[in-house]
Amino acid sequence: MTESIAQLYAEIEAATVTNKEQLEQYRLRYLSKKGAVTELFESLKTAAAEDRRALGQQLNSLKNLAQDRFQAFQEAVEASEQTASSQPPVDLTLPVVPNLMGTQHPLSIVRQRIIQIFERIGFNVADGPEIETDWYNFGALNFADNHPAREMQDTFFVEKTDTPSQDVLLRTHTSNVQIRLMEQVRNSPGGFRPIRSIMPGRVYRNEAISARAHCQFHQVEGIYIDRNVGFKDLKDTLYHFVKELFTKDTKIRFRPSYFPFTEPSAEIDISCQICGGSGCNVCKYTGWVEIAGSGMVDPNVLINCGIDPDEFTGFAFGMGIERITMLKYQVRDLRLYFENDVRFLRQFEGL
Ligand code: DAH
Repeated sequence: MTESIAQLYAEIEAATVTNKEQLEQYRLRYLSKKGAVTELFESLKTAAAEDRRALGQQLNSLKNLAQDRFQAFQEAVEASEQTASSQPPVDLTLPVVPNLMGTQHPLSIVRQRIIQIFERIGFNVADGPEIETDWYNFGALNFADNHPAREMQDTFFVEKTDTPSQDVLLRTHTSNVQIRLMEQVRNSPGGFRPIRSIMPGRVYRNEAISARAHCQFHQVEGIYIDRNVGFKDLKDTLYHFVKELFTKDTKIRFRPSYFPFTEPSAEIDISCQICGGSGCNVCKYTGWVEIAGSGMVDPNVLINCGIDPDEFTGFAFGMGIERITMLKYQVRDLRLYFENDVRFLRQFEGL
């Protein structure tokens, strides 16, 4: 019996318990009514009378060991369960750090849409300088030196020179790119080739900043030069453009106007997108809003670019992207475009 006690003693000392199930197994094996320790106490009855005292002492210390270890195991298991439940490795209720996606600027959205519409009908995209000489911005476009039309487009001069046409300025419109394109064609080795381009870009004017005007904005210019290009082509092109960009039932009207670089010239109005033509403060109760200037390229401009006006004709147009975006998305204040307030920009998410 001493041997069994010693064996059990060693076994209990070596036992390990790491969870509730093992704790229960331990209890059943050593401490329950049918456990090994109890069994040994039972067999004490059959031991020789003179050995009982010593064996009894051995059994008691075995029982104490079994109970002490049980208690220690129990505390350890409870403690580990508590830390496990109070600190889960992943807290699924924790709000995620938002992964904010950038949005396209509304002006970029509209610029790209305009480009898409014109590319589909055979226009390509051209580019030109924003810092320009007086000649390309005004002179070549048939603005006479002291013509009042210059007054409408006051700008920022970067450099004054002895030759006024060489004065350097920030361009007031994208029409300068027309001149540069026509010059390229004049100088191209294969002689004249048709021009059918649109020219988006940034322009500048010396204007007080308000809800309706800014010192910087964006335009898209268009030009088509070839043999036999007529006013009908201009109308067809712009009708198509307006119906694609706005809606099929948007009404369009051509209103006679004046630009130094076109003859005849027309301003293009569309039925107000806000009130549908019935009159509101955006259309100043006329039902119409102006979106572009246009006309047949003035023969003087063609001559300035070395193109023979007896052989070639063309039309041109120019429009403000801010203006069109205002109408399309009902933006009431031009300044919003340049303030980079994300509360404004986010409204164009997903467009
Ligand atoms: N450049 C003109 C402006 O900024 C707009 C314009 C009108 C452009 C008629 C054109 C055109 O090409 O033919 O007010």
